[in-house]
Amino acid sequence: MARPGFIVAVDGPSGVGKSSASRGLARRLGFRHVDTGAMYRAVALLAAEGGIAATDVAKLTVLARGLSFDFEEREDGSARILVSGRDVSDAIRAPEIGQLASAVSLHPGVRRHLVEAQRALGRGCDLVMEGRDIGTVVFPGAPVKFFLSADPGARAARRLKELRDRGLVTDQAKVEAEQLERDRRDSSRKHAPLRPAGDAIVLDTTLLTLDEVIQAMEQAVASRRPA
Ligand code: DC
Repeated sequence: MARPGFIVAVDGPSGVGKSSASRGLARRLGFRHVDTGAMYRAVALLAAEGGIAATDVAKLTVLARGLSFDFEEREDGSARILVSGRDVSDAIRAPEIGQLASAVSLHPGVRRHLVEAQRALGRGCDLVMEGRDIGTVVFPGAPVKFFLSADPGARAARRLKELRDRGLVTDQAKVEAEQLERDRRDSSRKHAPLRPAGDAIVLDTTLLTLDEVIQAMEQAVASRRPA
């Protein structure tokens, strides 16, 4: 029987640096990294391509149920997500897909299938899993949980840089407004809202470098990991 994996849960709002920190931490620990936001984004992308409205609960649920997810790391260190065999890593990063992902993730039918897929990815595998509800819903028994936070201005600046690095043109005010709208929706939804688990380590990353964040996380993991 597969031994239970060691799960590190990383939750927090958009633009807080979850992905870079989770990826870096996973690399240092030799764990797998799973970005669950990418899974909601993939459902949003396929819904948009298939002409399914973000409010069409029945069709979205059927869509989510039929998908399989694979995470791969290329030799150059880049992370790829394959949805039912198709590499959607770049297409899901468009800002409008982020907004749509936040809308489709409201539906419990969609969440149920993705949570199931996320738990399956953790079976017998040590991993760092990032999202909004990893410590509260997906793996409430995870031995280490982090909740990252940062000032809205700092978060918008980070996301803006990320978008510009990808060649997407936008401005900070627009990014900040979209982020606040997404946070409001993600935090106020009825099912699995964004909030820290009672036993999460809350890390404010506003004034920390990425290296400092990863170091703090690594120390916390080391203190809770059996020798
Ligand atoms: O992490 P991200 O910005 O790529 O996530 C996109 C959207 O997906 C986010 O606004 C809310 C949703 N999401 C979720 O509901 N639960 C998760 N575990 C991860 C993401």
